[in-house]
Amino acid sequence: MSSKKIYTGLIERYRNQLPVNKDTKIISLGEGNTPLIKLHNIPSILNKQAEIYVKYEGLNPTGSFKDRGMTMAVTKAVEDGAKAIICASTGNTSASAAAYAARAGITAFVLIPDGKIAQGKLAQATMEGAIVLQIKGNFDDGMRLVKEVADEAQVTIVNSINPFRLQGQKTAAFEIVEELGRAPDFHCLPVGNAGNITAHWIGYSELTKNSTKACAYCNGDCHYGTKSSVSIRPKMVGYQASGAAPFIRGDMVDNPETVATAIRIGHPQSWDYAWIVNKESGGWFDECSDEEILATQKMLAEKEGIFCEPASAASVAGALRDITSGKIPENSCIVCTLTGHGLKDPDTAIKQSTAPVVKIEASLAQVKSAILDNM
Ligand code: F0G
Repeated sequence: MSSKKIYTGLIERYRNQLPVNKDTKIISLGEGNTPLIKLHNIPSILNKQAEIYVKYEGLNPTGSFKDRGMTMAVTKAVEDGAKAIICASTGNTSASAAAYAARAGITAFVLIPDGKIAQGKLAQATMEGAIVLQIKGNFDDGMRLVKEVADEAQVTIVNSINPFRLQGQKTAAFEIVEELGRAPDFHCLPVGNAGNITAHWIGYSELTKNSTKACAYCNGDCHYGTKSSVSIRPKMVGYQASGAAPFIRGDMVDNPETVATAIRIGHPQSWDYAWIVNKESGGWFDECSDEEILATQKMLAEKEGIFCEPASAASVAGALRDITSGKIPENSCIVCTLTGHGLKDPDTAIKQSTAPVVKIEASLAQVKSAILDNM
């Protein structure tokens, strides 16, 4: 019987472009290798010529892009002898940290905001054995506390201020370029702490042998810019929820609010790096209202069969607006990152589901008539 080679995660796959050596014990759940899906139905509604792809990061092992960074951060923490990791989180980082800590046999402490975390994410963190500390405060309070406590306790921070996180996350750009055979003209992402937009820029920069001042890992001394496969980097476009939009306000926001709880962040940790990305790439930041975000989440599900969580839909909501206005020119190639799976936040999805559940008797006649009524 011929055996197919099993995919063992992004560190194995991009070993030469990541900070590991032959002795590093890799902590992996087979993350990465997510589908790049071309939108078929939504572009025709827009009546504009555009090639729009979504990178469906919700199909990572814990249902979000965080796994790309977490495999790297936990691998390095374990290599360094850590027995415990810690993070503040709006939900997805905590689910991912909990999973990789379980896999490594170490402890995860996660600080989450009081009552503002989607149910799926909380279920994951608790099932995966994390010590969940729910604070009477928001993500920004949690992040401040994590930084303070890490000075006093033997715990490794695995938020995206840990430079290994962005090293792992940069691999999404590698996959996109491999599949398209080029970099897109525009890469659109939802922005919270701005770690992910920075990581993608690092990835694209390495592929084009360009240096970037946005990389905290190498500080301008990049060892990985050897694989020059494309010449042009994309313009990086970051969309925030209107109630949590420090990059658009030009300053920190103290009481962020949005239905997209994943990006309910007012004090982004990668503030300076994201502005460098903005400048170097020639992209921009913009905001989306909660209504736009939810409408786009629904449109992706209804028209394309792609179910993402609300924060993720901000990338497509913003891109569609900018394509419609012409800010993103016709015939552009656009990639939007869908950062998390729709199942993460069932409550928000169910609340906006308007399609009625048809209740009938368990009889053939009633099933038949229900079908005929709805054809
Ligand atoms: N989309 C989702 C689904 C997220 O969970 C996050 C961040 C982002 C987008 C924004 O990414 O912070 O790199 O700009 N979630 C973090 C968490 C804050 O704790 O799970 P970013």
